[in-house]
Amino acid sequence: MDYFDYLRSFIKRDSFFIKELESASLGRDDIQPSVEPELGKFLGLIIRLINAKRVLEIGSGVGYSTLWLGEGVKATGGKVVTIDNHERTHKEVVRNIATAGLDNWVEKKLGNAEDIIDKLSGGWDIVFQDAGKYLYPLLHERIVNITRRGGLIIADDTLFKVNPEVRKGLGDHVDKYNKMVFSDSRLYSTILSVGHGVTVSLKKGNE
Ligand SMILES: C[S@@+](CC[C@H](N)C(=O)[O-])C[C@H]1O[C@@H](n2cnc3c(N)ncnc32)[C@H](O)[C@@H]1O
Repeated sequence: MDYFDYLRSFIKRDSFFIKELESASLGRDDIQPSVEPELGKFLGLIIRLINAKRVLEIGSGVGYSTLWLGEGVKATGGKVVTIDNHERTHKEVVRNIATAGLDNWVEKKLGNAEDIIDKLSGGWDIVFQDAGKYLYPLLHERIVNITRRGGLIIADDTLFKVNPEVRKGLGDHVDKYNKMVFSDSRLYSTILSVGHGVTVSLKKGNE
């Protein structure tokens, strides 16, 4: 048993459909990669930990990460808003969330995150970013502004800069983002070595 087999042997999926979507996505080359199950579980854990009721996801994909977020807010009595700008992907996420029975907990928006975000109110408990990496530095200020104090900003793939298999441009975007986050005195941040790296930032309170 290797490292990942061992680790994943402990990661119980929060619903039968999470496992089904994993299997259905295997070998597909027409969709972008989803988060790893251990990151999905981490998101579910964090939602429960801070009793998050308002969760914003930027980059739904076909809804794999959204399923984990949706199961989380189902447990806390909250709601996820998820955004994707790809029409076919959006149709898949709509179908997958319905199949998972999460329609009451997940609102799906089609459009560019950089446009939609300005129409959203503030006070988000968690903002999870997994869309175009160019968006991370571009949206940083707006995301900090709409996150409540004590809320979390979580960004996926933030170790791309040091991954030789990843195109340089993508690495440069996340590197710029990490530098912004770690020099931002409003945030308390770390990078977790989960998947391709996850930057987690707490928006500090009035200390
Ligand atoms: C890596 S995939 C998301 C995977 C998903 N979070 C999961 O783990 O299942 C990135 C998604 O971001 C979307 N995307 C890219 N740029 C975007 C933008 N400017 N606004 C909204 N969505 C965008 C893409 O269409 C794609 O579906």
